Amino acid sequence: MNILKKKPKIILTRKLPDSIEIRMKELFDTQINISDRMFSKNDLVDALKTADIIVPTVTDKLTSEIINKASKRLKLIASFGTGADHIDLEAAKEKGITVTNTPGVLSEDTADIAMALILAVPRRIIEGNKLVRSGYWKGWSPTGLLGHRINGKRLGILGMGQIGQAIAKRARGFGMKIHYHNRKPVQPLIEDELEATYWDKLDEMIQRIDILSVNCPHTELTHKLLNKKKLSKLNKNSYLINTSRGEIIDEKGLIEILEEKKIAGAGLDVYENEFQISNKLRELKNVVILPHIGSATIEGRQAMGERVIINIQTFVDGHTPPDKILKAMI
Ligand code: 8YV
Repeated sequence: MNILKKKPKIILTRKLPDSIEIRMKELFDTQINISDRMFSKNDLVDALKTADIIVPTVTDKLTSEIINKASKRLKLIASFGTGADHIDLEAAKEKGITVTNTPGVLSEDTADIAMALILAVPRRIIEGNKLVRSGYWKGWSPTGLLGHRINGKRLGILGMGQIGQAIAKRARGFGMKIHYHNRKPVQPLIEDELEATYWDKLDEMIQRIDILSVNCPHTELTHKLLNKKKLSKLNKNSYLINTSRGEIIDEKGLIEILEEKKIAGAGLDVYENEFQISNKLRELKNVVILPHIGSATIEGRQAMGERVIINIQTFVDGHTPPDKILKAMI
């Protein structure tokens, strides 16, 4: 039984890959955003009032205030991305709106960027690139741009889901020792394969590792979990890598411990406020900052779009979409 008419009205808030938009136009009554201009609060409210289904991204903050203004016809929020912290899931549930995401398809790409930062920061790759480009490089010297060795170092993974595990596999290839903190240990088979050590207490793991990689979702429980007090427990030669969500770290506290040289550096792909990255962070030398490109591959975006289509089509056909977000999952 179809719970929506055959060609439901779908609004895409951002420009998606051409092939995805074309397919969606064939299947549904799809409104695209050719200019890719970010939706304002008013645009979002309008979209929620006129669409049967909306396809938002991480840049659309669907707060309870906005969701409460949705018309009765809005039945599905089919988000393009894995993280769902930009959507008030409680408000959606109360309004009977189903929410889906696109898990799995971006784990390997995000793990690649995490690994790139794990290499780039301790080995000072970006500083080296800048030096050579500047024309001031005077040639090799025994003490030039010394960093820290990766091989043999302890990597602490906060959040051992699909992305965490994909990073662990890569890090093993670089001779790192895997430590992790998670709500519960991963299956023994996976733990054995990764020779990973489970830490029940984050505080204890933090004190024992050389690189901390943040890979848990941003939820009420993880909001600013890494505050200055916790970060201060890292040793002074350690590094922090974040490819998950900026809000998991107290950014002000992080900047302070970087300035005070309490840790050796940080590699960030995400920020507390992506629209206004702190000047201090941009000026720090021991920090590599990327523009949220964890999943930014052509293949990844295509796969994310395909998941969105599968979720919508399944829903329209009257079934539970495969990536329906349940409160228990976050
Ligand atoms: C996506 C991400 O690009 O999927 C996620 O959670 O953080 C990103 O890699 C973004 O969310 C797209 O909406």
